[in-house]
Amino acid sequence: MSSLSCAILRLLLETDEQISGGRLSRELGVTRSAIWKKIAELRRHGYRIDATPSKGYRLLFSPDLLDETALKARLPDSCLIGRRLVCSATTVSTNSDAFRLAENGAEEGTVVISDCQSGGKGRLGRRWESPAGVNLYCSIILRPDLLPNEASRLTFLSAVAVADAIEGITGLAPTIKWPNDLLLNEKKVAGLLNEMSAETDRVGFVILGIGVNINMTEEQFPSDLRSPATSPRIAAGGTVERAAFAVRLFTELAAAYQRFQLEGFDPVREAWSRRCNAFGRDVSVDLGNSTLRGPFAGIDRDGAMLVQRPDGTMERIVSGDVTIC
Ligand code: BTN
Repeated sequence: MSSLSCAILRLLLETDEQISGGRLSRELGVTRSAIWKKIAELRRHGYRIDATPSKGYRLLFSPDLLDETALKARLPDSCLIGRRLVCSATTVSTNSDAFRLAENGAEEGTVVISDCQSGGKGRLGRRWESPAGVNLYCSIILRPDLLPNEASRLTFLSAVAVADAIEGITGLAPTIKWPNDLLLNEKKVAGLLNEMSAETDRVGFVILGIGVNINMTEEQFPSDLRSPATSPRIAAGGTVERAAFAVRLFTELAAAYQRFQLEGFDPVREAWSRRCNAFGRDVSVDLGNSTLRGPFAGIDRDGAMLVQRPDGTMERIVSGDVTIC
């Protein structure tokens, strides 16, 4: 749809009241007939728009779309994340698409978003279930001024932003399992797969890959999932408008990224620690060829997990699969 449809939708979303054709045409600098054509186009895409003679137009219902019009109409112009949106009905993996775009110079803040993924990638080579019409799958390009070993800080930052967005939109308070699993009632609601391209002393770009189960039902999860999964719909009932959720996530992320650039990692670490579900609990960490067990003691300044050994000293873990015992 055109930028005019998007501008009309933005004005309709801003109010519950009728907006006259005259006001829309004045504010947007086009004729009433151009407005009428775009209203018809929005209706063809599933928007229910009431038109009352002499009063004007009123939005009654928005379809749950994740296209450029639905997102741009809700996104503040000043938001860094989403200043370029690449939306599709289906793709193999938004992370792979974003990586290719970033290699070809795509600007910071570009977001790749797809309604469905045929090869959604999870951590440790796993697959991410990505059915159409129910969830959010997006990948965000950042070009931070960081050393390669500092890039994992963005994983913690994005986990906090996803948790804040879920809480902001649904009122449910997710916890975080190190490093980047988001849980509701101890079941996974979202996961992050961050990938990077770097030289020895500089990050070129980072892809923040974010998958959030939003309106998925129990039946839509495969029966052979490794660990239990959930969605706000399962946890609380009722559906969430995905475009509204995505925009909340982009604004949370943009604010957190700006704060991180000004104030560094400490506020991120504090916010992450407040959401972490494991403090003081025994964790078991699968390190590939061995398993470590002990109380979780937090994360250090680089985001590494600290687990207490029986002699009281700390083991520092930078990657591994964690189970809370
Ligand atoms: C995990 O294993 O917890 C990470 C899952 C990350 C999934 C998201 S969905 C959007 C983006 N594209 C991908 O292929 N993966 C990430």
